[in-house]
Amino acid sequence: RGLSRRHLFGAGAAALGAAGLGWGAQEIVDHSTTGTDTDGGLTEPFHGPHQGGIATPPQAHAQFVGLDLRENADRAMVAGLLTVWTQDAARLTAGTPALADTEPELAATPARLTVTVGLGPGMFSAADVTDRQPSWLRPLPSFPIDRLDENSWGQTDLLLQVCADDPVTVAHAVRVLIKNVRSLVTVRWSQRGFRNARRSHPDGTTMRNLMGQVDGTVNPAPATEEFNRLVWDDGSRHRWLTGGTSLVLRRIRMELDTWEEIDRPGRELTVGRTLDTGAPLTGTAEHDDPDFTATDTLGIPVIPPGSHIARAHHTHDGERFHRRAYNYDDPPQPGQVSNSGLIFASYQRDIDTQFLPVQQRLAEFDALNQWTTPIGSAVYALPPGTGPDGYLGDTLLE
Ligand code: HEM
Repeated sequence: RGLSRRHLFGAGAAALGAAGLGWGAQEIVDHSTTGTDTDGGLTEPFHGPHQGGIATPPQAHAQFVGLDLRENADRAMVAGLLTVWTQDAARLTAGTPALADTEPELAATPARLTVTVGLGPGMFSAADVTDRQPSWLRPLPSFPIDRLDENSWGQTDLLLQVCADDPVTVAHAVRVLIKNVRSLVTVRWSQRGFRNARRSHPDGTTMRNLMGQVDGTVNPAPATEEFNRLVWDDGSRHRWLTGGTSLVLRRIRMELDTWEEIDRPGRELTVGRTLDTGAPLTGTAEHDDPDFTATDTLGIPVIPPGSHIARAHHTHDGERFHRRAYNYDDPPQPGQVSNSGLIFASYQRDIDTQFLPVQQRLAEFDALNQWTTPIGSAVYALPPGTGPDGYLGDTLLE
């Protein structure tokens, strides 16, 4: 069926209205969810002392997008870009279309959308604020286990982390956020991740990764004194970062073909936890404390000293951080069966003192290393949250 002139003019007028006037005053309703028992309308707060997507109970879907500033970018341009992102994110997370949103219906299902902005070293240079760059904001040292693909998954000037329980919401938010600033940035990479779907398990259930393990058990609980101390910056070194934090983003491939050759006890000894409940090999329930000193009747440690949890366990309180990983399962290369792994994301006040010693220990030895390969690595400063009159990053740039 051909399009009539009326259709064409109608569509053109709608696009003009969207671009020129915005959808601000018009309430867009997703009729497919009204009056039904759905979670699509749930929202997470955008404004506040911290950015969303860090302490937020993990949503089912995530997209991490690494972007580079164009060559002529300066401080004013970066401030403009962060202002646009803040305004768009404030609206989208509330379930309101962004300004000039050409698909406003897609914005009507926020599904707990969060947008988190990260700043890489190149952004500090472009905006001429390297005197305010935290000392830990630099690429991690290279480890012998790494097989990094810099072009595909390496360090970028900026990061967008977009999470929601609905993948359509994520795709729309990413599209809107990027297309509105495309004269200022280029996209280097995009990593899509997922967890168990919302309500396929009771809220608060620890996720499973694609090796089948319960992943994320040992983590500081949000909104506790411990979490605040380990994750949120107190501004003692950089006032602008008060309430912000850092992100280490590692893309880690899982060698599932060879992992599947290991029997169940072998897999459990590799991690130091059981596969069914995720309990430590010395306990019966997921959240039991592991006993790294326990031995069997032959005097052999129950949790092998080379197991993942024995190696990753903090040696002092300052070596802890908040993990919020996502699975990835992308199309395989020709001839391969799968292309799966973990988008490992950890948040901490100081990468050098909290994260690095643990990563160094794991790189030296971790029984799991035989089946995991880091292929991407990037670090970012995550500025604090903002109020209705500010923008993300304003404390750094003003
Ligand atoms: C614990 C899997 C990479 C740090 C665990 C656990 C699993 C797991 C199943 C036990 C349950 C839990 O507490 O979450 C994996 C997989 C990885 C990976 C499949 C790679 C594909 C890493 C990396 C780091 C790390 C790169 C940090 C450099 C930790 C820490 C714990 C942990 C700190 C808690 C240890 C404890 O105190 O018991 N991981 N992990 N993991 N992992 Fe990983």
